[in-house]
Amino acid sequence: MSDLKEFFLSRDQGDLYKWYNYFDVYERHLAPFRDKEIVLLEIGVSMGGSLKMWRAYFGENARIAGIDINDYAKRFAANGFDIFIGDQADPAFLKSVIAKIGAPDIIIDDGGHTSNQQIVSFQTLYPLMKEEAIYLVEDTHTSFLPGFQDRTDGQTFLDFAGNHADKLSWIDLIKNIERFKTPPDQRTGDLVLPYFTRCTFGVSFYNGIVVFERRKMEEPWAERR
Ligand SMILES: C[S@@+](CC[C@H](N)C(=O)[O-])C[C@H]1O[C@@H](n2cnc3c(N)ncnc32)[C@H](O)[C@@H]1O
Repeated sequence: MSDLKEFFLSRDQGDLYKWYNYFDVYERHLAPFRDKEIVLLEIGVSMGGSLKMWRAYFGENARIAGIDINDYAKRFAANGFDIFIGDQADPAFLKSVIAKIGAPDIIIDDGGHTSNQQIVSFQTLYPLMKEEAIYLVEDTHTSFLPGFQDRTDGQTFLDFAGNHADKLSWIDLIKNIERFKTPPDQRTGDLVLPYFTRCTFGVSFYNGIVVFERRKMEEPWAERR
């Protein structure tokens, strides 16, 4: 059994609520960061249970920060976490948090779960992460629930994530430049690849979770040998 699941099952404080299938996803993407000097930011602190789980998993060298809109979260500062109170759909607030904690290695969005909150947080925070980093969004099934579909452009978070998965493909991108609406660079005439394509290794879709793996990408190269 994974360490995270074991931590969860051994807990009886009632402060941690998780879908069981999430643990395998965490292990797959987060294990390489264990026992390192990382910065982890979690959006959505609630009763503080997940912050404690991350501390147990990543160790004392990790800087663990939480964002919540509810003042209640402030009390977890006493447990050695950096706590920031504000709205995850407010880019200025999110930028002020990063200015204080530095570029995160891991971001977990387990906040309000509306599509607008998930999209605005991702758009603001993803460019501010370390070059090699993991951005994990939880409870993405809310994209199917009308009460969480709050974008004026009608986009759900899963629409947004799917469109970003399309952008991983450099070859398609060049063939379908019209579709991606990225005109050639005015000055050089070069095709302008979306920023996302240049800094993303992969997007993984799971039941209830989407994971973005940030990594500096080189232009794809193939040859016959
Ligand atoms: C699902 S709970 C988080 C659970 C916690 N991560 C855990 O696993 O124990 C969601 C939290 O997001 C917070 N939240 C809701 N809307 C928010 C917003 N717009 N900005 C920041 N936090 C928000 C709520 O106050 C609540 O504490």
